[in-house]
Amino acid sequence: MRITLDTDARTCVIEADGTAATHDIFSREAFAAVADQWVKLGWVQKYSYGFTWLGRPIIQLPDDMIRIQEAIFHIQPDIIIETGVAHGGSLIFYASIMEMIGKGQVIGIDIEIRPHNRTAIEAHPMMKRITLVEGSSTAPETVEAVRAMVGPEAKVMLILDSNHARDHVAAELEAYADLVTPGSCILSQDGVMQLVAGMPRTGDDWTDNNPITAVKAFLARHPEFELRQQKRPFDETLGTPDCSHHPVGWLWRKP
Ligand SMILES: C[S@@+](CC[C@H](N)C(=O)[O-])C[C@H]1O[C@@H](n2cnc3c(N)ncnc32)[C@H](O)[C@@H]1O
Repeated sequence: MRITLDTDARTCVIEADGTAATHDIFSREAFAAVADQWVKLGWVQKYSYGFTWLGRPIIQLPDDMIRIQEAIFHIQPDIIIETGVAHGGSLIFYASIMEMIGKGQVIGIDIEIRPHNRTAIEAHPMMKRITLVEGSSTAPETVEAVRAMVGPEAKVMLILDSNHARDHVAAELEAYADLVTPGSCILSQDGVMQLVAGMPRTGDDWTDNNPITAVKAFLARHPEFELRQQKRPFDETLGTPDCSHHPVGWLWRKP
């Protein structure tokens, strides 16, 4: 694909699959093409590795964080289960939203919670809404421990952000999806891996070995879930696309 932006002529020429289309540079099509490249090139530049939330590094695109906040506020979950803690910023982000809502706990699972991260998370004011579980998210003892923390009446949301290999995501989906309450959702993160396959900072097998492949296989087996982007609660844009690392990531459990 070739995208040619001419700011003097005010055109955006998009050439792909042997055809060329010329758009006004201020058109929705031009913005969508640039946004798509911004997400992909930003992946290579590790753009999402430059932010903190309430003092802890969070490895998320800010646009995705806002969409997650919108989903949490819409669902008002009692429990968010997140696989993949790293520095703890995402746990603290979800916990702080729950603090503002006035209810809820976050269960964070990681195969290795490094001592300096654990110390910082445990010292954080939001720790009162966080439970840390160390172990592989798909190990039977981890799954059992987490399931024991979820009461039968709890409204549960699930966020998968650990190992994004197809088989691991598939196993996480099977291990935890039934805990997700009707009307709530699963966010399977980093489907962008499929879109950036072949670029620097990617794996050779990412075209197939990625969360999207796992999600599609899961949906074929689980008609109780549907893939859909949450309707934006506020949208006065001119039809802008989401700049996201989580395409094919939002699985809503049908009411
Ligand atoms: C992308 S980071 C998580 C980022 C974090 N959610 C955030 O937004 O800041 C991925 C984490 O998954 C963890 N991880 C890798 N394999 C895992 C597994 N099998 N079970 C649980 N956690 C795993 C890694 O240790 C790492 O901390």
